[in-house]
Order: sequence, then C-alpha cells, then structure tokens
Amino acid sequence: MHSTIFRDDLLLGKVALVTGGGTGIGAAIARELAQLGATVVIASRKIEKIEPAAKGLSAETGREVFGELLNLRDRDSIGTCVTRILERHGRIDILVNNAGGQFFAPAEMITPNGWDAVVATNLTGTWTLTRAVADQWMLNNGGSILNIPMLTTGAFAGMAHSVAARAGVEAMTRTLAVEWSPRGIRVNCIAPGYVASSGLRNYPKGLGLVEKMKSIVPMKRLATCEEVAWAAVFLSGPAGAYVTGQTWAVDGGKSLWGDYWPIQDPPDMQPVVLPYESWETPEE
Ligand SMILES: NC(=O)c1ccc[n+]([C@@H]2O[C@H](COP(=O)([O-])OP(=O)(O)OC[C@H]3O[C@@H](n4cnc5c(N)ncnc54)[C@H](OP(=O)(O)O)[C@@H]3O)[C@@H](O)[C@H]2O)c1
Repeated sequence: MHSTIFRDDLLLGKVALVTGGGTGIGAAIARELAQLGATVVIASRKIEKIEPAAKGLSAETGREVFGELLNLRDRDSIGTCVTRILERHGRIDILVNNAGGQFFAPAEMITPNGWDAVVATNLTGTWTLTRAVADQWMLNNGGSILNIPMLTTGAFAGMAHSVAARAGVEAMTRTLAVEWSPRGIRVNCIAPGYVASSGLRNYPKGLGLVEKMKSIVPMKRLATCEEVAWAAVFLSGPAGAYVTGQTWAVDGGKSLWGDYWPIQDPPDMQPVVLPYESWETPEE
C-alpha cells in the first residue's frame, strides 16, 4: 500500500512509537508512518489487541510493525517499554502519544477514583512516557513528539475529567516545546473533533449521540481516522520542521460552532430588558 498524501520512503530510517496503535486513530497513524518507511512500534495494555494489529499492519504495509506491551498507568511498564524499544530498534525519532481513555459522565457522577484514573492515563501517563523517551533518547538525539488530546477550547460536557487532563497535555506541550527546542525536539498536539473510530464503540451510552454529532459539525460529517493520521504525519515528520508548541484542531470546524449538550430553558425565564440611561427617554 502507498500513502495517498506523502512520498514513499519519506521516513526511511526513522523509528516511531505510537501508543494505542492497535486500534482506531493510533492504527491509522501507525499505518501511515509504516507506509512511509518508518519502523513502527505500537504499544498498549492488551496483547490481544496489539498482536493482531501488528500482524495486520505488517501485512497491509509490507513492512514489519512491532508490538509492545505498555500500561500508561504503570511507571515500571513505561520504563521497560522504552528500554526494550531502544534495545531492539536503537532509536525513537517520533513519539505519538495517542493512547487514552475516559468514560462519559456528568460532572456530578464522576467519583474520586474515576477522576484519578482518567488523569493518570491521559495526563500523568503521557508525561511519564514523554520523559522516559526524552531521558533515554531524545534529549541527546532530538526528535518529534506528537500528543493527541481532544478539543479543549470550549466546554466538553460529560468529559470534565478528560478535558482537564487533555488541557494539561496541551499546556505541557507548549512548555516542553520551549524548553526542549535547543535539544532539537519539537512537541505538538492534534486535537481531533469527532472521529469515526472503533473507539467510539467504547461509549455505549454515547453511541446514540454519534448520529447527532454529524449535525453539530460545520462539515456535517465525522472525521476518518486517516484524516487525523495525515495531519499527524505532517506535524511529526519533516513537513512540520518549523512547527512546535502548537495544537491543530482536526475537527471539520467543530470547535467554532455547535454543541450536543442540551440546556433546558427554566420555566420562569425572564424577558430581556434593555436598559435606558437616566437622560434617555424610554420608547413605548
Ligand atoms: N474518536 C474520537 O472521536 C476522538 C476524539 C478526540 C480525542 N480522541 C482521542 O484520540 C485517541 C485515540 O482515540 P480512538 O478513537 O482511536 O480510541 P481507541 O480505539 O479507544 O484508542 C485508545 C487506545 O488507547 C489504548 N490505551 C487505553 N488505556 C491505556 C493505558 N492505560 N496504557 C496504554 N494504552 C492504553 C487502548 O489500547 P489497550 O486497551 O490495549 O490498552 C487503545 O488502543 C484517544 O486518546 C482518544 O481519547 C478520540
């Protein structure tokens, strides 16, 4: 298979780690990177996801894609994963922090444990893996880090825990971009809007919303995983050579318009009264 956007062999000789690369958006990014010649390692918690995905991506791209176990909520697992990749492949040029997860819940239903779990995966896990890759490779050799949070510029009702964690990732991205620029490391984010990924099946309660989602996106459709992957490759590869500390929304205009969280009008909603100054004469 060939990329429909980028030149074959664009990333030949590069090694990329894509977390959550066995499913959805991560698999599309892994596929695109492998098609461009990179040696790709996909990593997540479940061997039953990683093994078939590594095999499938290898068969599709004609280039061996490797699988590793990784639990972002376990510091030892993170350290071990990075060490193994460096032992086996010698370098990590591109880190795509795509893995993440949350559950859909109104804020008043989020328990302390639920909050801690979501922050641990999406913020602390991203930080810990980023530091491990930086410490063991990038601080001395340069590289490119791409984080995949979510839209954080407005409210994300039902996702208070995750949007807080993801906004933390964006702030961290800007700061690392400045601190690590002299080390030859670029750090960016892609904030997907609504993406038609297999991951949406993890939200049984939210599945009814999927059809509604189309209506509140100016482009009137969900993104494909490939559309996110193209932007990911642009930013993390040579096309993004002078871009760092940025968040690109790949959202069909979603962040500009529309929402899915109905807020009922109260029965006693007051009419709007436009005030007059003391020297003005009210109109009848
Ligand atoms: N789809 C959308 O509309 C959308 C919108 C905005 C943002 N995003 C974000 O984009 C990313 C990819 O989304 P997706 O739709 O492709 O979802 P997905 O298929 O559910 O991908 C999530 C991946 O993260 C891995 N993962 C979860 N917890 C982990 C942990 N503790 N350690 C290591 N890996 C872990 C999962 O694999 P294991 O179960 O094997 O660990 C899975 O491969 C996620 O961060 C998601 O929140 C998605």
